[in-house]
Order: sequence, then structure tokens, then C-alpha cells
Amino acid sequence: KRTLEETLLESIRTIPDYPKPGVLFRDITTLLGNARAFRRAIDELVHPYAGNKIDKIAGIEARGFILGGAMAHQLSSGFVPIRKKGKLPHETVRVAYSLEYGLDEMEMHVDAVAPGEKVILVDDLIATGGTAEAACRLLHQIGADIVAACFVIDLPDLGGRARLEAMGVDVRTLIS
Ligand code: PRP
Ligand code: HPA
Repeated sequence: KRTLEETLLESIRTIPDYPKPGVLFRDITTLLGNARAFRRAIDELVHPYAGNKIDKIAGIEARGFILGGAMAHQLSSGFVPIRKKGKLPHETVRVAYSLEYGLDEMEMHVDAVAPGEKVILVDDLIATGGTAEAACRLLHQIGADIVAACFVIDLPDLGGRARLEAMGVDVRTLIS
């Protein structure tokens, strides 16, 4: 019987030189397409919170939506999308963050989480942590209680986990 780690590692595809030369892109579409791997990943992500009241799962566009929707169903929580700017129709809170080249902005509906609500943040992967840190700033701005930030994949050399922990956020990752 395969361990969780083996199942996940075997189901993730690595694409060299995508989206640009020198990058080894960890592609989770193969994990999502593998019924057993997808179920095991979601079960592991929600396991520590079974029986806890988690008000909202906040998913980061785009792959955090897929994982977060499944987690929200499993935990009987609501789902909140954190999106690239200009995609959400109602009043938003917005934050700028730096990418490898230049700046981008992400948004969340201002009323998506009520002050004090318990939220779990999720994305497929944490690299530099810039994306997740910006998402945490949005959640803190509207008074959310961030229970944890969860990722299937950690790229530990890039320091993302330390960056979130430095802002007091509990980080959980399934594989490195
Ligand atoms: C990837 C990944 C994370 C982010 C991690 O998204 O899904 O959201 O990068 O990088 P960081 O920790 O260095 O910020 P991507 O930029 O590929 O956007 P997409 O989900 O819209 O394809
Ligand atoms: N896969 C998905 N998203 C990413 C990666 C990766 O390898 N590196 C930085 N963001």
C-alpha cells in the first residue's frame, strides 16, 4: 500500500522550462485527475479540522478554488474566492504584491468573511510566499481569524513558509 506522500508525489507532473526557461513547474492537474490522489489530498488537508467549526475556506485563484471547494464541502464550511484584480463584482478589499517581475493585485469581497470568523486559507503550492502573504493581509484586514494556511506542495528553498510564520500564520503542507 502506498503512503500518502508516495501517492501525491507520483501523481504530480513536473514540466521543465514552464512558464519560462529554468523553471521546473509542478503540475497538479494530474493529481486532480487521479481519483485516489485527489481524495487522499483533500482528506489529509481537512483531517486536523474535523469536528472544529471552520466558518470559511478561502481559496487562492486558480488552483486554490478546486482544493478549497472540496475542503469546504467536507468541513461543511463556506467558500470564499481570493481573485486577481477586476474579477469580483461587489465591493472589495485589495492588496498589491510583488511577483518575479513587477506588481499584481488581488481582491476579496469586503463582506466575504465577518470579523472573528475562523478561516482556512488554501492554495496548491507555496513558493516565495508572496501570493499567500498578500492573501493573509487581506484576511487580516477584514478581521478574519486565520486558523491555518494549507498547501499541497511546499518549495522550501524559496522561503514561503517562513514568511507566513513570521506574520503569525500556522502553515501546513503535505509534501516538499
Ligand atoms: C502559483 C501558485 C500560487 C503561487 C505561488 O500561481 O498556484 O498561487 O504561484 O507562488 P509564490 O509563493 O511565489 O507567490 P500562478 O502564479 O501560477 O497563478 P494561477 O494560479 O492563476 O495559474
Ligand atoms: N507550480 C505551480 N505554481 C508555481 C510553481 C510550480 O512549480 N512555482 C511557482 N508557482
